[in-house]
Amino acid sequence: RNYDIAVIAGDGIGKEVVPEGQRVVEAAARRFGFSVDWKEHDWSCDYYARHGRMMPEDGVEQVRGSHAIFLGAVGWPNVPDHISTWDLILRLRRELNLYVALRPARLLKGITSPLAGRDAKDIDFVIVRENSEGEYSSAGGILYQGTPEELVIQESVFSRRATDRILRYAFELARTRRNKVSLATKSNGIKIAMPYWDERFAAVAAEYPDVEANKFHIDILTAHFVNHPDWFDVVVGSNLFGDILSDLGPAVAGSIGIAPSGNIDPTRTNPSMFEPVHGSAPDIAGQGIANPIGQIWAGAMMLEHLGELEAARAIETAIETVLSQGGPRTRDLGGSAGTIEAGKAIADALA
Ligand code: NAI
Ligand code: MG
Repeated sequence: RNYDIAVIAGDGIGKEVVPEGQRVVEAAARRFGFSVDWKEHDWSCDYYARHGRMMPEDGVEQVRGSHAIFLGAVGWPNVPDHISTWDLILRLRRELNLYVALRPARLLKGITSPLAGRDAKDIDFVIVRENSEGEYSSAGGILYQGTPEELVIQESVFSRRATDRILRYAFELARTRRNKVSLATKSNGIKIAMPYWDERFAAVAAEYPDVEANKFHIDILTAHFVNHPDWFDVVVGSNLFGDILSDLGPAVAGSIGIAPSGNIDPTRTNPSMFEPVHGSAPDIAGQGIANPIGQIWAGAMMLEHLGELEAARAIETAIETVLSQGGPRTRDLGGSAGTIEAGKAIADALA
């Protein structure tokens, strides 16, 4: 088995953690008898400074034929964030139809949750975020600009097709886990779109009588993540609600530096894209101290998606072994190791 992987390290700490992710995937490949061909792309804010765009016009076509995309982080102060994000990450997500964003929030062995008294059995849920439409739309505009009547309208767009398919994905995923789906809604305030989500949720839930379904308004849901993380198995939400929850989930599971994320095309027509949840962290970039675990765990998710289940489990176990047996850890986890040392320890644990 050989996999062609497109690599976009991006900016800041993306360039530091991606090589560690590759190192660990390579170690898993050696142990489990497959190989990986990496095709590196220098698309980033540096690229923007040279070319006036984040990636070539035909960038999406350049990666379309690969088995998966391994992304670091994109964004730097020389380019406004909405440009770096829309011109690269959102283009890939949308043009490759990566309509599911999948983010596990699981407390690893050897990590202490910021929630007092919680251990690994209490925090093991997955956030399923609608990744193709919703609140992140370009529909709208500014009226009467520069006058006291200035008025900004930003439309949200929810199609039945995209809403139903993400809900079904959540229910299917729950069947492989603990058979429970929670919806993030806000039907008491957002009075057209969110009652619609509630209605579609009830309709899809009826197709899955074996899966427990419940819903929470997004505001109280954030409180429940903190107070009752053990209530959750699969949590599904719109693009915006899912985005917010998928930073909060990993935060209750320890550190943003360890959290992975998959942007998935469940139809498997196009390559799916795997990345850490965190960004380019300009505040610590260039110092060699970023935690590589988010990138490494994203590598495990990528291998799982490619069908290398044993290799994926082995990477997760190697991370937990290093963390729980006093191996090197970076500063965000209370240690003093650098990025490379932390990455090598996990690769060694796999050998
Ligand atoms: P960020 O995740 O880059 O940083 C937030 C905080 O977490 C910082 O204090 C940072 O030092 C820390 N942190 C993040 N990753 C870490 C790691 N691996 N190890 C140790 N500490 C870590 O988020 P921020 O500051 O909001 O965004 C910075 C840039 O990254 C922006 O340009 C933003 O647009 C971009 N970004 C890109 C993403 C992507 O490529 N998918 C996702 C989020 C942000
Ligand atoms: Mg986010």
